[in-house]
Amino acid sequence: MAGIIAILGVFVADTAYRAERAPRMGETILGNKFALGPGGKGSNQAVAAARAGGEVHFISRLGQDDFADMALKTWAEAGVTAAVTQDPDSFTGAAYIFIEEASGDNAIIICPGAAGDISVTDIEARRDLIESAAVFVTQLEQPMAAAERGLSIARAAGVKTILNPAPAAEIPATMLALCDFVTPNESEAEGITGVAVHSISDAENAADVMLSKGVGAALVTLGEQGVLFKDRENCTHIPAMVAGPVLETTGAGDAFNGGFAAALAEGKDPVSAARFGCAVAGISVTRAGTAPSMPTRDEVDALLAANPII
Ligand code: RIB
Repeated sequence: MAGIIAILGVFVADTAYRAERAPRMGETILGNKFALGPGGKGSNQAVAAARAGGEVHFISRLGQDDFADMALKTWAEAGVTAAVTQDPDSFTGAAYIFIEEASGDNAIIICPGAAGDISVTDIEARRDLIESAAVFVTQLEQPMAAAERGLSIARAAGVKTILNPAPAAEIPATMLALCDFVTPNESEAEGITGVAVHSISDAENAADVMLSKGVGAALVTLGEQGVLFKDRENCTHIPAMVAGPVLETTGAGDAFNGGFAAALAEGKDPVSAARFGCAVAGISVTRAGTAPSMPTRDEVDALLAANPII
């Protein structure tokens, strides 16, 4: 039987603008399309893991407003249990997402709102939940002290720990040493290690630096080049899985992390879990939005069956 997945992170309302290019400072341009929907890295990961079959509890803070209602509805539909404090004196955050029409690539500004106030005390209040989990996941959109306390409680209880170090930040070595798995993209890997990552072999070099800082395993996500997994025994390149034409890459990292966590909680070995995460991401990029693009378990299993390991 699969164990619980406890995810600490942020929900925001994504406001996504598709346009040919980003505006320059002082310029107004016409966009082609706008969408409002649920986002935030932690919440997206929770939705991805739950839709992939995981029992997910999401730890966060919200305001008491329309965007908070959107969060609660999103989690209820995905089957995520909310471990959330609502603060009437704050607000639920939002993200500005620019999507480049030709490539589907994005640039994001996020204001976390109430989730920016998640404190070490909030995490202590969720200690029992974290200790009861099989897997604990966090990112860096809420304060780093809260992430570090969550990782530390999880590590002391023997819970597998995943840090998705996004957005890129300087991370203390003490915090990296609490992580069984760290899952940066290319630029986040460079932020942690100083190694510029443009290729699979660069990713391996960056992974070596992360391992030397006490991380259990590094999984460097490389977009269409897949994922480089490296721990102290094993170095494996997992190719990206293509489920169709790419529409939007926003949230692909969250899809990977949610899928990876769900598979680990089922007891899959880390390389198989990373392959499962690649399948979740491979489907999500063929759809618009972040949380709404996360696939069901049946869809993930079908893509994995269509891409057997040779
Ligand atoms: O990873 C994608 C997410 O980053 C978006 O949903 C946006 O809200 C930002 O947090």
